Amino acid sequence: MTDAPLSPNTVVAFIADIFLRRGADSYLGEEVTMSEHMLQGALLAQQAGANDKLIAAVLLHDIGHYTNEFPEDALDRGIDNHHDSAGAAVLEPYFPQTVVDCVRHHVAAKRYLCATDPDYFDRLSAASVHTLNLQGGPMTTDEVASFIKNSALEEIVQVRIWDDEGKVAGVATPQFDHFMPLLQRLVDQHCGV
Ligand SMILES: [Fe+2]
Repeated sequence: MTDAPLSPNTVVAFIADIFLRRGADSYLGEEVTMSEHMLQGALLAQQAGANDKLIAAVLLHDIGHYTNEFPEDALDRGIDNHHDSAGAAVLEPYFPQTVVDCVRHHVAAKRYLCATDPDYFDRLSAASVHTLNLQGGPMTTDEVASFIKNSALEEIVQVRIWDDEGKVAGVATPQFDHFMPLLQRLVDQHCGV
């Protein structure tokens, strides 16, 4: 962890450094590393013609696994051990709400899709089925009724689908630096730089 505060000018390079140093970490029993997983998702979004916010959301959705890398002031903003809410909290000062919502709800979206799409469960990886149980299993009817009120529901679900698809061993992707100008554009727009 560093004590240097982040700013709109440093946050993208800061995240790039996390990808560089920690990206080779294994991804919870999947056949891809953490960075391969996030870069594959971003590539799928880009190939689908998604806008910058959705590409950024899938690229950064698992950044919450690395919140111990963020400065202490980021940790003061109520971060807990859940990587979805932790990731949203560290991104929130710098990125548009849609990006933050997709990150915050990417685990909930899996629980939502398991409750509402009969084919979805069959597409989950074995590791994702295992974590589904730890995450509370499929949503209840009441949870679904509450979740569908989210104004970014469509984007949240789409990011989740790319998350699930970005777990294929051996896929060639651009490196993180390919996406840095896109991320900086979003930060500049959001922070009024
Ligand atoms: Fe993921």
